[in-house]
Amino acid sequence: MIFDNHNRPITYLRLAVTDRCNLRCFYCMPEEGIKYLPKKQLLTYEEMERIVRVLAQLGVQKVRITGGEPFVRTDLMAFLHQLAAIDGLTDLSLTTNGVLTAPHVADLAALGVKAVNLSLDTLDRDRFRQITRRDELPAVLNTLDALLAAGIQTKINAVVMDGQNTQDLVPLADLTRTLPVDVRFIEEMPFNGEGSHYPVLHWTHRRIVDELRMHFPDLQKLPDPPFSTSANYQIPGHQGTIGIIAAFSRTFCGSCNRIRLTAQGTLKTCLYDNGVLDVRALLRSGASDGELTAAFLRAFAHRPANGFEAEQNRDVVSESMATIGG
Ligand code: GTP
Ligand code: 5AD
Ligand code: SF4
Repeated sequence: MIFDNHNRPITYLRLAVTDRCNLRCFYCMPEEGIKYLPKKQLLTYEEMERIVRVLAQLGVQKVRITGGEPFVRTDLMAFLHQLAAIDGLTDLSLTTNGVLTAPHVADLAALGVKAVNLSLDTLDRDRFRQITRRDELPAVLNTLDALLAAGIQTKINAVVMDGQNTQDLVPLADLTRTLPVDVRFIEEMPFNGEGSHYPVLHWTHRRIVDELRMHFPDLQKLPDPPFSTSANYQIPGHQGTIGIIAAFSRTFCGSCNRIRLTAQGTLKTCLYDNGVLDVRALLRSGASDGELTAAFLRAFAHRPANGFEAEQNRDVVSESMATIGG
């Protein structure tokens, strides 16, 4: 296993397979979409497979496929089959918006994908259309049913937005009554593709818990697994659990085990850095596996202790989550 310069193990890769998306969530990108990368700037599946193989040899055990929306990229399932065969990878997971996912759920289960995170901010069709600028709620709910029927552990990600979906907190939390899902409420972050400055955060972790406690007074804190992004809770008697991801008011830096690879092959060793290694250029200049390994090790030896604090002094957080890979 590899440890970084602050003694944190690097075991988790978030791999963005595309920057494209079939929704337009307003907290992620503007209505007209972001300027998508031309295809030749994207890593090919062969390139991604090679990078993951090298990283797995360095101790990365978990790969989460993100985007954009992963299923917008053609032949994603064939790529996942390749990844599933890599030695040392014990956990292959996926974050999806669920629009195109339902038909692939049986195949995902057969591949051994045990957990899927589904982005779903509201159960109301009109509000869904307002937030995502697309009328796709029925397709997403179909995916939710299919995931649960296939026995895949499912987390629902809901970004909490003042004046948009706070009336959905209780109905979403109430899904846990009869369904074995983890419903996670996420503080909004300033990655919306529009170059915004840091926003005022109206719905903090604290306020979300207070709101939930008004309706579910016996909400109980659960112990959090190591490296968990969420603080976890449960309503006694409910099948599922509730999580709150304080993505903005708290940092996970101290126990951060994750690195990111953007769709164009830039390595980020912190959500808040601008990319520390152009892996695509290295690959395309003919680097050997040994040279790749050496470049990764150099990058891991220079991770910031707390990238979040460093970034708050700047106002350049203008990327879309779809480019970063979440
Ligand atoms: P698990 O693998 O299930 O723990 O998933 P996850 O919570 O890491 O990933 P997911 O793709 O479901 O992301 C949920 C939210 O957490 C998104 O809004 C992410 O951007 C946010 N998130 C993920 N990693 C980090 C991180 O390192 N720092 C911060 N601040 N937020 C993160
Ligand atoms: N703030 C917080 N979460 C966001 N996501 C996308 N953009 C933002 C943002 N600006 C979430 C999506 C998805 C996850 C990968 O990131 O809802 O569930
Ligand atoms: Fe697409 Fe996810 Fe961004 Fe929404 S948040 S536009 S589903 S990438």
